[in-house]
This record gives sequence, C-alpha cells and structure tokens, in this order.
Amino acid sequence: MQEHVSLVYDIVHPPQAERDALYFWRQMALVATPESAPPRIPVPAALRPALSLFEAASEGSVNGGPSVPSAGALYPYEHFAIVGGPDDPAVFAVDVARRTCRLLYDREQVAQALERGGIALPGPDAYLILTVVRPWLSMRKYDDRGYLYAQLDAAHLGAHLLCLGSRSHHRAEWLTRAATAPLAELFGLGDRCRFLHSVLLLDGPAHARTPSPSTQAWSCTDERHMSPGAPPGDLPEGQSWRRLAVYRQEPPVRSAAVRRGALMPGSRDEPDRRCRPGGAELAARAVRRRSAKEFAAGDLPARALQDALTALATPLTTDLPPSDGFGATLVARRVVGLIPGTYPVLGGEIAAEPTGTAVADDDDIVRMCMGQEHLRHTCAAVVFHARHQEIFGLGMAGVEQALLRAGALAHLLCLSATDTGIAITTIGGFDAGRWHALAGIPGENEVLYVALLGVTGASAVKLDRLQRAYAHDER
Ligand SMILES: Cc1cc2nc3c(=O)[nH]c(=O)nc-3n(C[C@H](O)[C@H](O)[C@H](O)COP(=O)(O)O)c2cc1C
Repeated sequence: MQEHVSLVYDIVHPPQAERDALYFWRQMALVATPESAPPRIPVPAALRPALSLFEAASEGSVNGGPSVPSAGALYPYEHFAIVGGPDDPAVFAVDVARRTCRLLYDREQVAQALERGGIALPGPDAYLILTVVRPWLSMRKYDDRGYLYAQLDAAHLGAHLLCLGSRSHHRAEWLTRAATAPLAELFGLGDRCRFLHSVLLLDGPAHARTPSPSTQAWSCTDERHMSPGAPPGDLPEGQSWRRLAVYRQEPPVRSAAVRRGALMPGSRDEPDRRCRPGGAELAARAVRRRSAKEFAAGDLPARALQDALTALATPLTTDLPPSDGFGATLVARRVVGLIPGTYPVLGGEIAAEPTGTAVADDDDIVRMCMGQEHLRHTCAAVVFHARHQEIFGLGMAGVEQALLRAGALAHLLCLSATDTGIAITTIGGFDAGRWHALAGIPGENEVLYVALLGVTGASAVKLDRLQRAYAHDER
C-alpha cells in the first residue's frame, strides 16, 4: 500500500532530478529561426574590390580565413566592409571563410555615422574594412590573458591587411584611433559583446578595376530587416564582456591624423641605402608565412637575423603617434657572429655591442615560456616592450595601443623571416617578469610580446592550437 502511494505521488509531482533533466534538455535544444531565409541579392560591384582584398588576405590560409598568426589559432574577430561611395554607403558583414556577405545597413544611417566620426568615404572607389573583435573566443580558453591575445591577434590582422592594401591601392591607411562610437552604436556591437578594433581605409585601386575572378564564388544576402537575435546573457560572450566593460574606454571623439612612418622608434623614414622591402613586398610573403611548430638544435647566422630585423623599420601609414618609450631588445642565445647577450634593436638595426650578457639555459627558456617544450632550442628572441607611463598613463587605451604596435611589428618580423630561412613563432605564453630580467630591460618598462627565432624542427603539430591551453603550462 505504502509503495502504491509513493508511485502516485511521483507521477503527480516528478522528482527534482527529473525536472532538472527536462529543463536542461530543453536548454540544449536548437530552435530554428522562425523567419524565412534572407533574400539573396547579387554581390554589388562596389563590394568586389573589398572581396578581392579578402581573397588575397586568405592566400596560404589553412582555414579559409585571412592567413595570419593567431594565439591558439582562435582568430577572435570578424569583418565588416563599408562600400558604395560617400553618397550611398552600405555596410556588409563579410564571412571570409564561407565567402558570404550580408547587407546590414545602408544610406543615411551609415553616412551619418561615418560623418559623425569624421571618417566619411572620400570618393566612389573608396571603401573601409572594419575589424570587429569577439573577445570571448580567446577569453574562454585563456581567461583574462585571452583579451591580450585578442588585441595582438587583431594587430597581426590589421598589419596584414594594411600591407596587402598598400600593394593594390594608391591610398591605404590603418585608422586605429578613429571616432568609431557612432558606427559601433549603429551596429549594436556592445549589445553583442563585440568592439570595433580598427578601420582600414582604401582608395584608388592601383591596378585595373577588374576584381579578381575568384570573387565570383561569393554570395550575398539582404539582412537589413532581420533581428540581430537574443542578447547573449550568461553565455561566455556575456561573461567576458561584463569582465571587460569595467576597464574598456570609449573610442576617441575625434579621429586622429594619419602619417607615414615606421612604428619602431629610431627608424629612418627616408629610404636607406640597403634594399629593404616595403610593406607591399612583405605582403607577398604572407602566402608562405607559417609559425614554427618546434625549433631544432642549431645556430642562426647573424646576417640573416639582421636582414629579418630590418623589417621593423618598414614605414606604414597609420594614425599611431610616435612612441619614444617603445623598444625591441634582441636576446641572442645561439647566433653565429654575435656574443650571447642582449642587444637593443634601434630602427631595425642590431646594436654593435651587447648591453648585457645574461644567458638562459634551455630549461630556463622552457620555464619562461610556460612549459612549452617545443621552444627549448630557441636561438634568439625579440622582446617588445614599452615604458610604463606610456602604456598605463592613457588607461586601457594605452595598453591597447602598445599591444597594437607590438603586434604589428611582430607581424612584419614574421613576414620578413619567411625569406631568410629562419623559423619564427611569436608567443603569448611567456612569463613577462623573467623575460624582462633576461633581456635587461629598464625597470620602468613593461614586456608586451615576444617573438622567438630558430632552426625549423621536425614536429608537424602546433601544440598551442590544441584544445588544452598548453601554452599556459596546462598539462
Ligand atoms: C598572440 C599570439 C600568441 C601566440 N602564442 C603562441 C605560444 O605561446 N606558443 C606557440 O607555439 N605559438 C604561439 N602562437 C602562434 C600560433 O599558434 C599560430 O599563429 C597559429 O597556430 C596559426 O598558425 P600559423 O601562424 O602557422 O598560421 C601565437 C600567436 C599569436 C598571434
């Protein structure tokens, strides 16, 4: 009798475990959008030059997107293109890997947002490429440090697109301090946990106006009237966004002026006697660029190392201000022709004499790189750093600017090393304090980023790309 009562009770009031299971089962379900598929439209002719640029940017890529280094190969960003000239601008979200674009906004609302930011399209052939960061993609693997990686990743991408753009356009400018708040507001980026990193302005195609035939593969839909979807709430997007919101600053209210010059202090802006490649020539190497998966035991010749480092003096057209407090220091371990020690790299030139002779053994290197065994035989490192006051004096905007400069310079180095037979990988998994001490950097400086150089090893697997955070000593 007792048993029977309990059974009835269970049916009328399911136990908590059953209710929980049912709830979570429903949480796990997918629900297709009730709207019909967005209408397909022809790819507008004005968009094709932007698509050609993305096609070029993806040559050599293993995942279909732009071919650039990315921490853990997470590529935490997406792209927008604004095309159509000053009178009829339209915004397209561009998915490079899928070769699709979505028309999102057009006409007055876009023109006004551009106008308010002082970045209106200058003519009918001009267009803008916007890099929008999705920080949670890095932060869910690497916690707060993932934000630093997202900034560095976007800097690599921006430098890549700028070099390519300067090859195919008369005017290519990387706007890193533009007044983008009106655009971000129009796109609802904050509500969708994204932020606008930077803008590339391109004008006057240097070659014939016929875009590359490969852009025929692209398709386009009109999504101007579709809802952006539910806000992310407690999902990882929302969690990491709330973590950042306290620290992030609004974009500037006025766009900064653009100038052409090297991002590295101490560089000569006039062409020097040696035949050093410009950004456009470096861009051609992106197709073959790869990050080293492992270094083999061996030495590097000083000459090849110097050749690679000259790329740090490449002039670029950006709105970044000069930065006297920024520096790069070479840590030479096994370089034929250089006494082991530390050498300032002013304007891409290795100093004639070392400023310090501290050395690290192979075990130290692995430890300083958070247990990354594949970096044991590093021959040399380039440590990018900047003065404390210059970074933090501007709040998070200063941090982001310093990371942008370091990431862009590291990118030029990755490209230039491609030709010299030097294996290179930039790393984010490093102990800044230990690298600071090894490189003998002045106390008021902060280490931002490190590039390691050496001899190509045999491994075919890039460990930090795997699911575990191996670059953070996770076992
Ligand atoms: C910000 C950043 C941090 C990185 N950190 C590491 C690292 O700690 N260790 C490593 O071996 N590679 C690191 N990499 C290299 C990436 O693993 C590599 O770029 C990615 O796997 C894509 O491969 P690819 O550069 O050959 O295209 C880093 C790259 C970037 C941009």
